[in-house]
Amino acid sequence: MIVVTGATGNIGRSLVARLLEEGAVVRALTRDPARAGLPDRAEVVRADLGEETDLTPLLTDADALFLNLAAGGGEAASRLIDAAAKAGVRRIVLNSSLSVTDTPADETNFIARNHAALERAVRDSGLEWTFLRGGNYATNALNWAPAVRESGVVRDPHPGAQGVPVHEADLADVAAVALLDDTGTHRNQTYLLTGPESLTNAQQVAAIGEAIGRPTRMEQISEDEAAEAMSGPHFPIEAARELIRLFGESVDAPLFPVSDAVERLTGRPARPFAQWARDHAGDFS
Ligand SMILES: NC(=O)c1ccc[n+]([C@@H]2O[C@H](COP(=O)([O-])OP(=O)(O)OC[C@H]3O[C@@H](n4cnc5c(N)ncnc54)[C@H](OP(=O)(O)O)[C@@H]3O)[C@@H](O)[C@H]2O)c1
Repeated sequence: MIVVTGATGNIGRSLVARLLEEGAVVRALTRDPARAGLPDRAEVVRADLGEETDLTPLLTDADALFLNLAAGGGEAASRLIDAAAKAGVRRIVLNSSLSVTDTPADETNFIARNHAALERAVRDSGLEWTFLRGGNYATNALNWAPAVRESGVVRDPHPGAQGVPVHEADLADVAAVALLDDTGTHRNQTYLLTGPESLTNAQQVAAIGEAIGRPTRMEQISEDEAAEAMSGPHFPIEAARELIRLFGESVDAPLFPVSDAVERLTGRPARPFAQWARDHAGDFS
């Protein structure tokens, strides 16, 4: 049986569906089963991972755990790793990040630091692990949805910044391969996961326009204005500034090279951003 954290999230929802298709028994964790809208065939269990409760019962009878930092944050993830070891879980597939480089640079930015710490905790647990270092997620473009719906004009400090947007369904498909592996091929492996092509922010906005059949464009704003808009209770303004500066560096060359890992691991090409935009046209209309 496989336990999925963040089961109603971008990756989690796709992953639950994929695992069920593969005939796996799935325990899907959510803070609110009544609103989760998860398939009946999954065992849907209420879990607020931010609460100071014993997490071990969530992992009883589980062989594998899909661990997503988005589900409750770093402290919750650490407690879940301990609980997994106690409950006899064999394997953790960790949703990590391409920002982790295994160099001292990992300590210099918020996102890399948090994911690197989690990778260390998983390694130290003694369980089998697979690290999925994905980035940048196509779902980041959902931040543009209100602007696209209102005016079609997306304000951003770096219209020319290049990304390699990866579809959440590809991340989920790779996670399923690693979770269901019975050959040991993916044991203690790290995978760099990107979309199939490098695209600027402006090109991504144009692809969304095409998917919804309405004109869209980007308008450049200052980095400060963008950092204010991006920061929030769980994302400090300094972290937002770091990230925006980093995106600025990708105007001349993408931060991450395109990886072929999705195709190697799943046997089919990674989904292009244009497909992601079509899949999410409803979010932008
Ligand atoms: N964005 C990127 O470019 C990028 C790049 C690399 C890595 N990442 C990683 O990917 C993560 C995002 O993955 P995602 O997009 O699949 O996440 P997501 O869509 O934001 O889903 C997070 C899920 O976690 C659950 N959750 C939130 N708080 C919880 C709590 N206290 N206890 C239990 N569950 C809780 C929520 O489900 P309920 O409301 O149902 O409880 C939610 O559906 C990031 O946090 C980061 O670690 C992102």
